[in-house]
Amino acid sequence: MTTPGSSRGSSRPWPRVPGIAFGGDYNPEQWPEEVWVDDVARMAEAGVSMVTVGVFSWALLEPAQGNYDFGWLDRVMDLLAAHDIGVDLATATASPPPWFSHRYPESLPVTREGHRMSQGARQAYCPSSTAYRAASTALAGALANRYGTHPALVMWHVNNEYGCHTSECFCDESAVAFRRWLRDRYGDLDGLNEAWGTAFWSQRYYSFDEVIPPRLTPTWGNPTQNLDWKRFCSDELLACFIAERDVLRAITPDLPITTNFMGAFKPVDYFSWAPHEDVISDDHYILGADHMNHIRLSMSADLMRSLGGGNPWILMEQSTSAVNWQPRNLAKAPGQLKRNSLQHVARGADAICFFQWRASRRGAEKFHSAMLPHAGTDTRLWREVTALGADLKNLAEVAGSRVECAVAIVWDWPAWWAVELDSHPSSDVQYLDLMRATYEAFWQLDVTVDFVRPDADLSAYKVVAIPSLYLVSDASAANLTRYVEAGGHLVCNFFSGIVDPDDAVRLGGYPGAFRELLGVRVEEFYPLLEHQTVTLADGGTGRVWTEMLTPAGAEVVTTYVDGPLPGLPAITRHDVGSGVAHYVTTFLDAARTTRLLQVICADAGVVTRGLETGARLDRFEPAGLETIRRQAEGASYLFVINHTDREADVPAAGVELLTGKAADGIVHVAAGGVAVVREAAAATMDG
Ligand code: GLA
Repeated sequence: MTTPGSSRGSSRPWPRVPGIAFGGDYNPEQWPEEVWVDDVARMAEAGVSMVTVGVFSWALLEPAQGNYDFGWLDRVMDLLAAHDIGVDLATATASPPPWFSHRYPESLPVTREGHRMSQGARQAYCPSSTAYRAASTALAGALANRYGTHPALVMWHVNNEYGCHTSECFCDESAVAFRRWLRDRYGDLDGLNEAWGTAFWSQRYYSFDEVIPPRLTPTWGNPTQNLDWKRFCSDELLACFIAERDVLRAITPDLPITTNFMGAFKPVDYFSWAPHEDVISDDHYILGADHMNHIRLSMSADLMRSLGGGNPWILMEQSTSAVNWQPRNLAKAPGQLKRNSLQHVARGADAICFFQWRASRRGAEKFHSAMLPHAGTDTRLWREVTALGADLKNLAEVAGSRVECAVAIVWDWPAWWAVELDSHPSSDVQYLDLMRATYEAFWQLDVTVDFVRPDADLSAYKVVAIPSLYLVSDASAANLTRYVEAGGHLVCNFFSGIVDPDDAVRLGGYPGAFRELLGVRVEEFYPLLEHQTVTLADGGTGRVWTEMLTPAGAEVVTTYVDGPLPGLPAITRHDVGSGVAHYVTTFLDAARTTRLLQVICADAGVVTRGLETGARLDRFEPAGLETIRRQAEGASYLFVINHTDREADVPAAGVELLTGKAADGIVHVAAGGVAVVREAAAATMDG
């Protein structure tokens, strides 16, 4: 069993829970106390080892400002300790109580249009509100003083899903905070005027008092003002987290502290947040109607592992079956709960938790699935939950092992914010579409990837892909160039390297920052109509974008046959130093993207579809086998997740941990099933 302050391969603490932690959000305050006894008995039956308590309990914990009522929580904590269930205790600050909003009406968030919102749901607070900051840190401190040494406490859960509903507030207090943030960034007004390009449209500022958040304007607002606003909003929420974290850390310096992320969530720059957390945790909900949702899940899991520098992370929330917030809330198919959960484990999660333990009777989420459904324990769902608990016990030895990748995808929140600002050449250039297309191609090739910032150390990667990097700093552009010169294989999509961090266009021809690296010069963009496609000479197709490119050192891989630029280059390749940089000037179709990445991987020595799965690269239905390796000193674990409706035979030798059976060269994975093989011989790095 690990202890507080111990790590799993990092210098940061990990919750004191053995093996792979299993559990969920536990909201006992919604139930009479006699139900709690049944709760802990059932938790033991399911193998629950950690629960998140108190996420939305501020109103009960602090009935009036500064008056705390911890009685019920004392009893819950003691009950859980008695049953050896660890508590990830929430600071309860995600939903200020009605008394708070009543007393501090100025703390309620204001929309861009100027409407002040009301309490009555959750997250009704302005991130810059001084009243909120004071009250939330006071509550965090009171909880830490009360429970800091409680035997059940294994981790702090600060707030909940920062920015989920309220990621920005346009009130006057936010305006003051924004001005402070801008002074820090630019020093003086000249710096701000230069960066924001205020010579345009008569926007020059002569006093910081004139500067406001990007509220509703008659037409397009200043792009750099909007970009800085996004930076500011992410930083303000981070400041809320840090304020609470620091209070907790002062009282319980050895306990891990987390706040739950939401995957590819645009408003919050998780790369800038991650270093401030001890453990990365994430909430991932699949979209039932999305037939690629298992690939989205993998992508989110890889992002979380990457945010934590490869260290184990926590899946803090997922659903056992349907949620309540999609237009049509589909139940999960039998076996999907297990596949989803073990996908997360395969990609580095050492904790699998759910929202929530017991399905609510009342409130907006009463039709959200839970570990213990309304229908009770004689249910398919309960049987799947308890089976998962047993599976995770069988995988205990996997905890702490790591996923090593030879391929990285560049991900950058400011570039995301900037590329989706308005008045651009095409509103069809959407960051996540490009990310997902690149990720899916690697997924089809069975290549596990890390996500990296553009200024990261890239030396460990054989291939680096840039799906979209409209905004890039000089330093990051130089970093990517050095990577290629040193032998790296880079592939970069259109509309990247276009502006500097102030959103000022890089002159002399596109793609400004990467012109030399890619050996090309682009004069003009030729975006396509909404449903227009173009054909490439090699049979591929493109959409969204084309551009008038002249090679300047690069060789042409293929050209356009039709569209606005027939005969002009569509894909180029440039040898730079001992590496190669490919450039793609359109949104390539999935098959062509996969073929291109396969060739680049082959050149770089990255194995694609390393296992004889029978999968064919020209088959792009959302099916297939996913294989991922987690590795530790002297041990290697091969996860095979079968998303198809056919049994699969996969080469593997060792012990299959879920069944305990030997795998003598082949492991049989049932349709929709999962196998985890402790491999007999230590494996090489999985491409
Ligand atoms: C989020 C929240 C939970 C709950 C779930 C429902 O993840 O953190 O409190 O609302 O959504 O899916």
